[in-house]
Amino acid sequence: MKRELFRIEDLHISVEGKEVVKGLSLTVYEGEVHALMGRNGSGKTSLSCALLGHPNYKITSGRIFLRGKDVTGLSPEDRARGRMFLAFQYPVAIPGVSVMNFLRTAVKAVFPEEISVRDLRLKVNEKMKLLGMEPSFASRYVNDGFSGGEKKRLEILQMMMLEPQFAVLDETDSGLDIDALKIVAHGINTQRSEKSGILLITHYQRMLDYVRPDYVHVMIDGNIVRSGDENLARELESKGYDSISSAIAT
Ligand SMILES: Nc1ncnc2c1ncn2[C@@H]1O[C@H](COP(=O)(O)OP(=O)(O)O)[C@@H](O)[C@H]1O
Ligand SMILES: [Mg+2]
Repeated sequence: MKRELFRIEDLHISVEGKEVVKGLSLTVYEGEVHALMGRNGSGKTSLSCALLGHPNYKITSGRIFLRGKDVTGLSPEDRARGRMFLAFQYPVAIPGVSVMNFLRTAVKAVFPEEISVRDLRLKVNEKMKLLGMEPSFASRYVNDGFSGGEKKRLEILQMMMLEPQFAVLDETDSGLDIDALKIVAHGINTQRSEKSGILLITHYQRMLDYVRPDYVHVMIDGNIVRSGDENLARELESKGYDSISSAIAT
């Protein structure tokens, strides 16, 4: 029997006093990848920020559950310890902090058991190789002067190190050329497992050729208005979001 991993119940989110997510519900079972698609401004990033506890994105009503446990009011740190992970659409630079130190701190915050510097380095190098990254990447400062593709790879690297139960990937495909996209998709696919789940937010169908979702949801104006399988993403690609808006309006 499939077990429930993550559930969003009638969620309302406000940012700067404006309601941007309006009663959204979604259930993800173990092992599933859900794609969330929608135009710019439909509320995808607000949803992912609120799910991970960003203070500017206020949950005004509704609840979030991770394996049946209410995590609505938890701090971002506690959510990370509960093995939730968010890859940001717009990653920030941290000058002075190397990728290796950043990953060490992130791993320490999530896993209570000590991992030796050597083991951590080996694991980071192994994952970097999989993502087609040069070893020297680990000495660079986090996102400082990184290209769009390097930022996205670092996020996937971080995810691979943290092995989250539930990951929200916000437009991980933006700014990637086709080769980088394939590598990043491969990284994401290595994280798919029977026990974990992924919410993959994307603007384009392209990513879904490489990370094949179990379900596709379309978000318009703060809510999911249609759900289906990967054919829905193809339909969107050929007909556009207008076809869905007008179908709802009539
Ligand atoms: N920090 C913010 N301050 C003010 N408005 C915001 C902020 N973040 C998002 N919004 C507004 O929330 C709505 C949804 O935006 P967003 O969640 O970024 O959508 P998407 O990720 O689907 O493009 C938009 O109208 C946007 O202007
Ligand atoms: Mg966004």
